[in-house]
Amino acid sequence: MKYGVNEHGYYGDFGGAYIPEMLYPNVEELRQQYLNIISDEGFKAEFDDLLKNYVGRPSPLYHAKRYSEKYGANIYFKREDLNHTGSHKINNAIGQILLAKRLGKKRIIAETGAGQHGVATATVCALMGIECVVYMGEIDMARQAPNVSRMKMLGATVMPASSGSKTLKDATNEALRDWIGNPVDTHYIIGSVVGPYPYPDMVARFQSIISEETKKQLLEQTGNELPQYVLACVGGGSNAMGMFYHFLDDEDVKLVAVEAAGKGINSGHSAATTFLGQEGVLHGSRTILMQTPDGQVVEPYSISAGLDYPGIGPQHAHLYKINRAQYTSITDDEALQAGLLCSQMEGIIPAIETAHALAQLEKMTFKLDDTVVICISGRGDKDLDTYIKYFNF
Ligand SMILES: Cc1ncc(COP(=O)(O)O)c(C=O)c1O
Repeated sequence: MKYGVNEHGYYGDFGGAYIPEMLYPNVEELRQQYLNIISDEGFKAEFDDLLKNYVGRPSPLYHAKRYSEKYGANIYFKREDLNHTGSHKINNAIGQILLAKRLGKKRIIAETGAGQHGVATATVCALMGIECVVYMGEIDMARQAPNVSRMKMLGATVMPASSGSKTLKDATNEALRDWIGNPVDTHYIIGSVVGPYPYPDMVARFQSIISEETKKQLLEQTGNELPQYVLACVGGGSNAMGMFYHFLDDEDVKLVAVEAAGKGINSGHSAATTFLGQEGVLHGSRTILMQTPDGQVVEPYSISAGLDYPGIGPQHAHLYKINRAQYTSITDDEALQAGLLCSQMEGIIPAIETAHALAQLEKMTFKLDDTVVICISGRGDKDLDTYIKYFNF
């Protein structure tokens, strides 16, 4: 694969495994085993069965007719919001719990921002009868309260992260700290295409089901498996990587990744990583991140907990640097308006993360026969409070 990871764990200048000595055995065990395990026929059969019968895949590819009329193109929604637990995060959680079982792990830890990855992880742990601890920033626990209750109901312990900006970055730090203290029995289910190699590659493979299905569905519905544009929002970048994966080598397909501009790129309250960031190391990989001139991580901001992260996965950093994908950003206000529009024009209340990708449509011009696919990464139930407060319903 032209844009895939090399044997050293790098995508061009980005990736690798920048980890403390104490984590080396855990990450090395994963690196040595992950490809063997996930290419095993027994693993594939169990993964496919759970995706079909538990998650409800394939997720529909829906031709959004009113959107198509409004934006003057053939617009399709890839409906990851209809998955069990309400987002794309479950695809990766299922893959990693099956891997953890095969590695003989007895305890699972995870970090979460919007709570969707936490809920997905708590869900698969309940399914397999494995202990689950989820780290979540204190601010995110307040703004995504329904997901905190969901995780507790599913039997997980939710540990508040109270350092820094009290959001996703800080939750990730706490989870890494836990893993260092529990190296033998614990597997860390990272929720995005971030972290030390092999995580970015492993998570991208588990999420690649999104574009695998999309190609087949486009062929069935339009007679052509290739669209002109593919759009997705980017926090760490897992729904975007899953949505891009099988289109990467089709160079005519334009890939558009949408980051969170927060209150505006230059407002000092933003998470638009490619605009504001430089190359450096975050959470175990070399990537692009928001940092001060002396390398301290800058606290990000977005109204959307899932996009409120100061970095992007290393494969995204590579696709950005070599211009294979276009990176844009959308403000809080633009996203919330797009969430309302989608609710009232298509009857689909999107997650605020997803609403960023939808808002990007306003900034593009299409030809009438263009086919455009947007990854609807999650549903908006968890965000109702934020929508209600903003629109004064
Ligand atoms: C619905 C939804 N979309 C997108 C994201 C962003 O994550 P990623 O960039 O890994 O897809 C999240 C993260 O929590 C999410 O819940």
